Amino acid sequence: MKIRALLLGLVAAGITATAAAADPIVIKFSHVVATDTPKGKAAEKFKELAEKYTKGAVKVEVYANSTLYKDKEEMEALQLGAVQMLAPSLAKFGPLGVREFEVFDLPYIFDGYDDLHKVTTGPVGKMMLSKLEPKGIKGLAFWDNGFKSFSANSPIKAPEDLKGKKMRIQSSKVLEEQMRELKALPQVMAFSEVYQALQTGVVDGTENPHSNLYTQKMHEVQSNVSLTEHGYLGYAVITNKKFWDGLPSDVRTELEKAMAESTTFANAIAREENEKALAAVRASGKTEVYQPTPAEKLAFKKALLPVHKKMESRIGAELIQSIYKETGFDPSKL
Ligand code: LMR
Repeated sequence: MKIRALLLGLVAAGITATAAAADPIVIKFSHVVATDTPKGKAAEKFKELAEKYTKGAVKVEVYANSTLYKDKEEMEALQLGAVQMLAPSLAKFGPLGVREFEVFDLPYIFDGYDDLHKVTTGPVGKMMLSKLEPKGIKGLAFWDNGFKSFSANSPIKAPEDLKGKKMRIQSSKVLEEQMRELKALPQVMAFSEVYQALQTGVVDGTENPHSNLYTQKMHEVQSNVSLTEHGYLGYAVITNKKFWDGLPSDVRTELEKAMAESTTFANAIAREENEKALAAVRASGKTEVYQPTPAEKLAFKKALLPVHKKMESRIGAELIQSIYKETGFDPSKL
């Protein structure tokens, strides 16, 4: 009887051991935007490739639209190991103590995606990701979204048009200064709360690439959108460093491959996704889309340039200069 029990026990232990060996490594990937956006689609692509390349040894659970965590909580959750992967906007790393990322928020510092990629794919981008390591975070990649439009409930043709308006911003001191430069009143708010805040008049306006504006239906509660393209919004894909370093090396290699391919995918679709979203915003007829003339755009550039100087002490004059150098931006030529 005793021997039978022992044998049964051994069989049971064997089954448990097999089950444990087959248990996949779970990566919870949390983000705050809709699935139908550049980031949402890229996260799904990463899931597909990661699961395929690791032959199921890794399971990626994507939580879109702030369903698991909102902006601030998700950073904490990553550091605590409650989630393994995020792709926060570059404007959201300041509160973590990594101010350098706010350089991406400087108004008009990039004249399009090509300029931006010179930085994100070059040594400056690499150096910036390495700044995350002392925080227990590993930076894996930069994913694009796009260039921002201002929106409000009145026409925005000149910098003065935003004067006195309460404008929702992400948690970046550069964006705060940008709004102050326009004599607007910046209000930091989690992305998940923006639609309601616009709808109820808690804030008057905001700024976002069109993919975010459209998928959050912000255009339905803003009468005016102005194609100012005054700043960039993109992401750093990050993971918990301890988790990443602790992965079996063959698994990590496959995940790196999946990440590299999802990054190529993300950066290939971002422009088109934003163009499609803008077309859909226009087609909705729910908001007036204004294309500023070159002279009007120049007026915004001139009005916002002082933000670069004012933010030097926060994000580093040297870093700003190295970006000017990579992109050829010359403030004296405005
Ligand atoms: C925002 O808060 O406006 C954006 O960072 C949202 C996002 O992740 O694109």
